Amino acid sequence: MSISRRQVLLIGGLGTLGVGGAMIPTRSVEAKSASRLSDREMPRPFQVPFVQAPILQPYSTGIDPADGRPVNHYRLTQKAAMASILPRLTTPILGYNGLFPGPTISLDQGTKAVIRMRNQLPAQHSLDGHALSTSTHLHGSASLPQYDGYASDITHPGFYKDYYYPNFQPARTLWYHDHGVHFTALNAYSGLAAQYHMHDPIERQLLPQGRYDVAVTISDAMFAQNGALGYDDNSHSGLWGDVILVNGKPWPVMKVQKRVYRFRILNSSISRSLRPTLSTGDPLVIVGTDGGLMPAAQSVANYRHAGAERYEVLIDFRKYRTGQRIELRNLSNKNNVDYDFTNRIMAFDVTDEPVDTTDPTWNRIPTTLVGSEAMSLVPKQSVKTRSFRVKRNDRTNLWTINDDSWQDVIASGYRKVVADPALNAVEIWEIENKSGGWFHPLHIHLVDFQVLSRNGKAPFAYERGPKDVVYVGEGETVRLLMKFTPHAGVYMMHCHNLPHEDHDMMAQFRVGLKPSDLDPNDPMTAARAEWDDED
Ligand code: C2O
Ligand code: CU
Ligand code: CU
Repeated sequence: MSISRRQVLLIGGLGTLGVGGAMIPTRSVEAKSASRLSDREMPRPFQVPFVQAPILQPYSTGIDPADGRPVNHYRLTQKAAMASILPRLTTPILGYNGLFPGPTISLDQGTKAVIRMRNQLPAQHSLDGHALSTSTHLHGSASLPQYDGYASDITHPGFYKDYYYPNFQPARTLWYHDHGVHFTALNAYSGLAAQYHMHDPIERQLLPQGRYDVAVTISDAMFAQNGALGYDDNSHSGLWGDVILVNGKPWPVMKVQKRVYRFRILNSSISRSLRPTLSTGDPLVIVGTDGGLMPAAQSVANYRHAGAERYEVLIDFRKYRTGQRIELRNLSNKNNVDYDFTNRIMAFDVTDEPVDTTDPTWNRIPTTLVGSEAMSLVPKQSVKTRSFRVKRNDRTNLWTINDDSWQDVIASGYRKVVADPALNAVEIWEIENKSGGWFHPLHIHLVDFQVLSRNGKAPFAYERGPKDVVYVGEGETVRLLMKFTPHAGVYMMHCHNLPHEDHDMMAQFRVGLKPSDLDPNDPMTAARAEWDDED
């Protein structure tokens, strides 16, 4: 697609973005800003306090008669709302319960969840007029296909869908976000994203809990002059905002005690990748990846963090002095567009608030954590190696996986698959990104995988844990080892640079079924949305 077809869209329609926002990221740009805010309205780093999204309470709890397990029932409403993101102006958003980011769900392994997801959104997005039909994915959960947020399994405004989540997996940081077919990027960018924490006894014993277990959802944004969100995905290459938001606030400052904290860092940016590092030069101690705790903690000076990846990180504030400010900075990576302040994320101000030293996690930096099924797989268990190439098709200009796109899946009546592993089979999947032009965070639904290698070498220290998104950098080839369990059915795989996903870097695979089998968990038919006639 040529530059002239680039869509530059602003919610509220207050003109187009300036030169800064119009650059394409392949030419490294020295742009000062993407936002059109006046100097007075443009936020600056470290001016506002850190906040977290509220924890969502279940509206009822019960027991599943089928197996005697506890079940939490939640209700969430997707709706348009106004958010206070900027110092004075308000910003129209789309949010779960009207929040940006949405409320955090927190529960224990073994407690199932049923979420009634109500779509009370307007009929159309105010920015480009696309229909606001949504699909909700709980990213990190091995859900049945009909509750997995299958992109084309959409719920229209005025309808609801009940999503069933099994929560049998090890403790981890999950997140839920919109997955509506072809408009995931704009919907997630507008606010439809939130964290979901699953605890288990091992994790509760090893790592900080409660107020020391901190959700950090990082995203980038650009703003129109009136405070509305701007959107420019550079011909579907990616969106690079000039404002870094943490839990919906620009570059906030958190007060911390002199103890160890745990941060559940989610990059919910639709395109930008980060390289977090501390201003002190002290290490970040990585203890968890997408699929939960790693076998062993890894201390790193910085690490590469793409959209949708989750890293759980310990920071030890014990040795700092009262009043000291420590910044969480962003060293960035190739093919991001950086602006004046995108090299900063948030800051910590150390206080002299007394530390509760009866909490054994206050000073604990564990080295050995816990094994997991994904991390104990060995390559010789693999029964098949499959190869996938991620690239842009020169003719159609669509992003593709093995030259397939979601349009091909739709055209096939949702039957076309790129792989058909047997149920419980272990396979090696090799993902190759020959192009030096882009990085692709590749996400595979259903499974936790182990990264075996990158360009034939050992994976980075910080990714030696169970993963469901892998950063496939420029010119990189990664090998992944995974077991297709515990559900049969069709699941998506796609790039998590969401403008890539929408245009149209998404395919599906079918676990444990033959093409002729009747699929009781067909995501297009097994659990339909219902008309919502409550209030
Ligand atoms: Cu986080 Cu298929 O997505
Ligand atoms: Cu997912
Ligand atoms: Cu991509």
